[in-house]
Amino acid sequence: MDKEVEQLKEQLKKQEKLASLGQLSAGIAHEIQNPLNFVINFSKMSDKLLKDLTEIVEDNEDKFSDDTREELDDIMADLQENLHKIAEHGERAISIIRGILLVSRGKENEFIPTDVCKLVKEYVWLSYHAMRANNKQFNVSIHEQYEEGMPMLMVIPQDLSRAVLNLMNNACYALWNKKQTTGEYYNPEVNVSVKTQGTDFVINIADNGEGMTDEVKQRLYENFFTTKPIGHGTGLGMSIVKDIIENKHHGTITFESVLGKGTAFTIIIPIRK
Ligand SMILES: Nc1ncnc2c1ncn2[C@@H]1O[C@H](COP(=O)(O)OP(=O)(O)OP(=O)(O)O)[C@@H](O)[C@H]1O
Ligand SMILES: [Mg+2]
Repeated sequence: MDKEVEQLKEQLKKQEKLASLGQLSAGIAHEIQNPLNFVINFSKMSDKLLKDLTEIVEDNEDKFSDDTREELDDIMADLQENLHKIAEHGERAISIIRGILLVSRGKENEFIPTDVCKLVKEYVWLSYHAMRANNKQFNVSIHEQYEEGMPMLMVIPQDLSRAVLNLMNNACYALWNKKQTTGEYYNPEVNVSVKTQGTDFVINIADNGEGMTDEVKQRLYENFFTTKPIGHGTGLGMSIVKDIIENKHHGTITFESVLGKGTAFTIIIPIRK
């Protein structure tokens, strides 16, 4: 009995820690959002100013020598490209921060009408960019197929996004791992699709990575089962995904995996009216 109480206390402590970590990251994310909005808005304003400047230069063509004109054009083109990069990467940072806010704010278990295609896309790319940030030399081609005009669907967005993120992180890892042992001619790929199918909607995430052995297939959903080196995985990802899909969304998750060839996950969730 005492042991059980001790265990419960431990668990509570862990949960409290996680909750305060969530609050802290939400707080930081919030604080960063404002200066980031300044960066994006000023880059857009500067882009407009640059357009005005270009017009003025064009209107006064005869006042510049050919050389000066060429130099001006080059500088203006560079400026425009830089401004676009600032805006693009700023937007990316904003979307990462939105992800953090979504995960940590978490009104738990709330079904909200959601653009599932957009959600999947966002988290697939979040995972991709996170991987790229750690692994600049490694790249993955992502092929996406989203059903057009799909209606808003009732899901728990922060849970579904967490599931997509873990599946995609696992896929990227399997690709990266395979790349370490194969030559130049291997092209790591992920295929992602979202579609409706009768009274369900279906999310597919397939990689051509290292695949799974029979042991891994059997133990995939076990808590703390991981084949990754210490520090790379806790082995909780797939058990959380299963819980999110089966218990929270009343759906199913299945996979096919061939060692050395790749792994494909299929999530099927009934559409809630
Ligand atoms: N797409 C995949 N291709 C190959 N193996 C996979 C794939 N997805 C999962 N696995 C295997 O299943 C194991 C368990 O995955 P799971 O997501 O539960 O934990 P993890 O990724 O190791 O750690 P984390 O808790 O950080 O997610 C992985 O260690 C890996 O061996
Ligand atoms: Mg994982």
